[in-house]
Amino acid sequence: MAPDNKYGLLLANPVMTASGTFGYGTEYSHMFDIQKLGAIVCKGTTLEPRDGNPQPRLAETACGLLNSIGLQNIGVKAVIKEKAPVWASWRVPVIVNIAGETIEDYAQLAGELDGIAGISGIEVNISCPNVNAGGAEFGANPHSAAAVTAAVRAATSLPVLVKLTPNTSDIVKVAMAVAEAGADAISLINTLKGMAIDITTRRPLLGNITGGLSGPAIKPVALYMVYEVARAVKIPVVGCGGITTTGDAIEFIMAGASAIQVGSVSFTNPSAPLDVIEGIKQFMKQENVEDIDDLIGAARHQKFASGGRGNGAN
Ligand SMILES: Cc1cc2nc3c(=O)[nH]c(=O)nc-3n(C[C@H](O)[C@H](O)[C@H](O)COP(=O)(O)O)c2cc1C
Repeated sequence: MAPDNKYGLLLANPVMTASGTFGYGTEYSHMFDIQKLGAIVCKGTTLEPRDGNPQPRLAETACGLLNSIGLQNIGVKAVIKEKAPVWASWRVPVIVNIAGETIEDYAQLAGELDGIAGISGIEVNISCPNVNAGGAEFGANPHSAAAVTAAVRAATSLPVLVKLTPNTSDIVKVAMAVAEAGADAISLINTLKGMAIDITTRRPLLGNITGGLSGPAIKPVALYMVYEVARAVKIPVVGCGGITTTGDAIEFIMAGASAIQVGSVSFTNPSAPLDVIEGIKQFMKQENVEDIDDLIGAARHQKFASGGRGNGAN
């Protein structure tokens, strides 16, 4: 995040793990040197522990994964008591992803996490239903997205990343509202709504009927949204969605992301985030690029890449 921002968070490298795909980091510490990561974003955290949605909660699709975990997590008190002391001994910064049902929930979560050793930032998951607005996602419209952001900003001195949902009609407007409301950075995208049906039982495959789609299937959508958001806001953008290879990560950086998150691929290859770090280093060497800033938004600096009319299709 911008070094001149008083809430800034400086990363050793631009590769983070995406929330919900890397647990609390502790689960992976015996597998490889997780201290080499740029940052770890932990599982979505709520005020109270949650059991999550009915099984089954995962379904594989062509080039993607559907999940309806339902924010199963240990709750903020256990995060502070059991996880933060471990994180405090790590070099890699840990960002806590938070989720709420009301604006007050988010503010309370941010307040409780403020000043806790081992917690370097907050990522606000606004893909959650607002119980006071008929269950519409906070992130679906600019007003509720800004209200959550402002409440979190007021409750903490930690860096605040706001994570956008793609399930909205105008993600750029939401991004601009969130930036205006005091976010230090924006991460995007969360999962796209989807479903799958078992044709033998004639029933939806997921216990929750619908779920969120992630993985390579969503990469072009995520990349497009990062490209659009990065040119509309001045704060740093963290790209996420289907990043599986070094090439994917570099595409997001060239679209304007200052950092990226590796998500679903960690389920099949837990060391994928480290492979991407190494890959970026190699790419920079090959291309004689000394400063990653020279790659950020590079695709926007080309003569014919600044716009595009309509949706470009047909
Ligand atoms: C099983 C699973 C659980 C997730 N849990 C969360 C979560 O708790 N909070 C959140 O903001 N995003 C969550 N996500 C979304 C991911 O962080 C990420 O935004 C999304 O999966 C797209 O990236 P990917 O295609 O690389 O997985 C989850 C994704 C998956 C697959």
